[in-house]
Amino acid sequence: MPKLLHLACSPRADSESAAGAHVFVESFRKARPDWEIDPMNLWREPLPEFEGYLLEAKYARIGGKGFTNSQHDAFAVAERLALRLSLADRVLISTPMWNFSIPYKLKQWLDVIIQPGLTFRFDPAQGYLPLLKDRPTVVILASGSDFVTGMNRGRIDMATPYLREVLRFIGISDVRFLPIGPTTGPAEPIRAARDAAHRRLAEMAARF
Ligand SMILES: Cc1cc2nc3c(=O)[nH]c(=O)nc-3n(C[C@H](O)[C@H](O)[C@H](O)COP(=O)(O)O)c2cc1C
Repeated sequence: MPKLLHLACSPRADSESAAGAHVFVESFRKARPDWEIDPMNLWREPLPEFEGYLLEAKYARIGGKGFTNSQHDAFAVAERLALRLSLADRVLISTPMWNFSIPYKLKQWLDVIIQPGLTFRFDPAQGYLPLLKDRPTVVILASGSDFVTGMNRGRIDMATPYLREVLRFIGISDVRFLPIGPTTGPAEPIRAARDAAHRRLAEMAARF
């Protein structure tokens, strides 16, 4: 059965990115009732700290060395997490903007799954090469400020270019971003931004 992986990256109960993702997933379910949806909440999912044997395993791979048993076991956790992504035919990431970038749980997940021999490889002649096949991906990015049209237009949004580049590094280039913002401040601009984003997300999901 084809699968949509949904990475949910906000810890808030009244999260705007999660509300947008809900609209998207409901519309997607109607359009593709035969698809499996794999919800992955990065604040509930146990993610390994990137230190100790896991860190050693990465450097062992880079240095062309074999794993010790402990490194092998630590790497197997990263492999399982990367497999969940590589088995997904479509990906939805719903995330807040935190301090101009992404929340540390999403960064931790990326640090864990981006491994040599797993999601990328290094070729001495060609440099870094991605190992995942490309797949349609949507990123819902909720921010307190409006980075697209409002008074914060032109301020630095490092979440969008960072996610675009890091996903491209592992092979996922077919990525569309849907910003939701402002999500803080006066009620009317928040409502207007939410309504416009939800309309757009419902349309996008129906054709995803
Ligand atoms: C730790 C933290 C850092 C934040 N940094 C930014 C920021 O750099 N720019 C911004 O516009 N909003 C920032 N915000 C506001 C959030 O982006 C906003 O509340 C957004 O709606 C969060 O997404 P969520 O509703 O899905 O949780 C920050 C919020 C938190 C908790």
